[in-house]
Amino acid sequence: MLPLLLATACTSAPDSTAPPTAAAPPTADAGLEAGKAIFTQRCAVCHGPDGKKGLNGAHDLTKSNLNATGRVYLVTNGLGLMPSFKTELTPAEIDAVAAYSLTLR
Ligand code: HEC
Repeated sequence: MLPLLLATACTSAPDSTAPPTAAAPPTADAGLEAGKAIFTQRCAVCHGPDGKKGLNGAHDLTKSNLNATGRVYLVTNGLGLMPSFKTELTPAEIDAVAAYSLTLR
């Protein structure tokens, strides 16, 4: 029985060149920015820029408990006096505007 000693070679590289910490692209923020722009153009007319306007019975978005999935569904298909945005916005745009609407609290 030979005890095998698996020694991991600890090669410490000279840290002359520290890798630059690349800043991660702010994907989420970019999405929210896009969502905000869409909201201002498409939704603010009824919901107001802060989501509270309530034109034509539009619900106060700051008080909505609807989650992202529900909002995406509602914006896609419309409900009552709220129009469907299926033909107006791409699924990605609907995702973005739904995500933005969730920040109105
Ligand atoms: C023509 C006016 C109008 C526009 C434009 C509009 N909405 Fe609405 N929205 C409504 C009305 C009215 C309701 C209430 C629907 C109902 O329950 O009958 C509503 C409801 C909602 C709700 C559900 C709130 C809740 O919890 O009950 C969400 C979320 C919402 N709107 C998001 C949006 C977003 C996002 C946009 C832009 C893409 C948008 N709306 C554009 C009128 C509008």
